[in-house]
Amino acid sequence: MQSNVQFSSGEFVPLEMHKVRVVQKLNLLPVEERLKAIEGAGFNTFLLQNRDVFLDMLTDSGTNAMSDQQVASMAVADDAYAGSASYSRLYEAIVEVFGTEYFLPVHQGRAAEHIISQVFVGKDGVVPMNFHFTTTKAHIELAGGRIAELFTDEALKIKSDFPFKGNMDIAKVEALIAARGKENVPYIRMEAGTNLIGGQPFSIANMREVRRVCDKYGLLLVLDISLLNENVYFIKMREKEFQDADIKTIVRTMCDLADIIYFSARKISCSRGGGIATKSRELYLKMRELVPLFEGFLTYGGMSVREIEAMAVGLRESLDMDMISQSPMFIKYLVDNLDAAGVPVVTPAGGLGAHLDAKAFLSHVPQLDYPAGALGAALFIVSGIRGMERGTISMDRDEDGHDVPSEVELLRLAMPRRVFTLSQVKYVEDRVKWLYQNRELIGGLEFYDEPKVLRFFVGRLQPKSDWPQKLVARFRRDFPAGR
Ligand code: F0G
Repeated sequence: MQSNVQFSSGEFVPLEMHKVRVVQKLNLLPVEERLKAIEGAGFNTFLLQNRDVFLDMLTDSGTNAMSDQQVASMAVADDAYAGSASYSRLYEAIVEVFGTEYFLPVHQGRAAEHIISQVFVGKDGVVPMNFHFTTTKAHIELAGGRIAELFTDEALKIKSDFPFKGNMDIAKVEALIAARGKENVPYIRMEAGTNLIGGQPFSIANMREVRRVCDKYGLLLVLDISLLNENVYFIKMREKEFQDADIKTIVRTMCDLADIIYFSARKISCSRGGGIATKSRELYLKMRELVPLFEGFLTYGGMSVREIEAMAVGLRESLDMDMISQSPMFIKYLVDNLDAAGVPVVTPAGGLGAHLDAKAFLSHVPQLDYPAGALGAALFIVSGIRGMERGTISMDRDEDGHDVPSEVELLRLAMPRRVFTLSQVKYVEDRVKWLYQNRELIGGLEFYDEPKVLRFFVGRLQPKSDWPQKLVARFRRDFPAGR
C-alpha cells in the first residue's frame, strides 16, 4: 500500500494531515513506579490513573482529538431543554451524512443498544450478528434474547490476508433462520469495523447478501456504525467496485442497506454521545417513547449541547479521506512492523488498534491464567503504555462459576484518532518487540476480587508468582535509566 503522500524512499510512512495546536503533557514514570501503579490497579489497566500512563491505548472511545472547528462549534452551543438550535444543526448533519430522515439522540452507544433491544428483542429472540460487542450482548440478554455470532471461518484466524474478516457467513444465517424460525429473529445486526475481532471490516458485497436474506424473510437489518469510518476506508482500499467512489457514496450505500443505524459518537465523530437513525417513520415511532424515559428530551437525549455541536461537525469531517485514513494507516505501520519482527499480531491490520495475540505471545501461560491480562500488565510495566485485555477476563463466568475461555486472547492497543505522533508509535513498536524478546519472564494472573458482571472493568487480580519483579530487573539491566 502507498503512503497517503509518496516518499522518495518508497517507504510506507503515514503522514499526519493535521498539526498539533493544543498539547497535554505526558508523564513517563520510572519502571519501579510503573510496577507500583499496576499493583495498585489490581493488574487491571482499567483501574490505572491516567497520570501514571504514558501512552493511553486503552480505547479510541472518547479519547480522540477534536478539530479546531469542533472546539469552535462548542462555543456557540445553544442551551435549551427543548428545541435547541444545536440539535437542529446535528439533525441536519445526520440527514446530510447518512441520508436518514428520523433521528433519536442518546447519551452514548450502549444507550442506543438498550433502546433497540428493549423495543425489538422479545423473550427467546435470537439476534444473528457478525460478532458481538460486550455492551451489545449484555443489552440483548437483558431484554431476554440471545446472540448468534455467524462469522466466516476467516474471522478468528490471527494471521490472515483476508480483506473482510467482518463478513457474515450467509449460509449460517440461512441455517439459523431455518432452525429458529424467522418470527424469533427480531433483526440481524452487522457491526462496522468489527471491534472484538480486531477492528476488521465487512464488504458491501457481503452486506448486500445480508440485505437479500432480510428481504427474503421480512427481517430488519440493524447496523452499528460506531466504527464506520474505518470500515468505509477499507472498502475504498480493498473492494474493487468502490476504489474510485467518494467517501460519502460509500457511507450512503452502507446506510441505505440498513433499516436502523446506531452509533457511539465517542468513536465515529471524535466527540461524545450517540444516536439512532432510520428512514422509517414507523420504526422511529416505536423507539421514540423510550428516549425521554431513559435518556432525556428528544432534542438532547442525555447529551450536553456542546457535545451535540461537536458531533455535528465531527460527522461532516468523517467524510474526509485525510481524516478517516489517519488512524488505520498508523495501525498498519505498527502492525506490519511488529509482524515483520515475528511478534504475533492480528493481520491484516484493521481499524481501532493493533491487536497482539496473547495466546501465541505467551504460549507458556495457560489460558485460565489470563495471558492477555498478564500481557497488558507486563507491557505497562515496561513502557507505561496502557492497552486493554480482550480475552478470557472480558468473558464472565458461566452459570456454574467456570471461566469461559475466550475464542481469541488479545491485547488491544487502540489508536485514538489524531492523537499520537509517529515517534510515539515507534516507541510502542520498540517496547513491544523488547517485551517479546523477554516474554519467558511473564507469568499468569488470578482474581482476588471478582465482580459477577463485566468483571473486566473493575475486577482486581494478582500475579501467580514474582514475575513482575523479575521483569523490572531485566528492564533495568537493558535500560539503566529506568525508562
Ligand atoms: N458498539 C461498538 C462497536 C463499540 O465499539 C462500542 C464501544 C459500543 C457499541 C458502545 O458504545 O461506549 O458509547 O456506549 N466501544 C468502546 C471500546 C467502549 O472501548 O471499544 P459506548
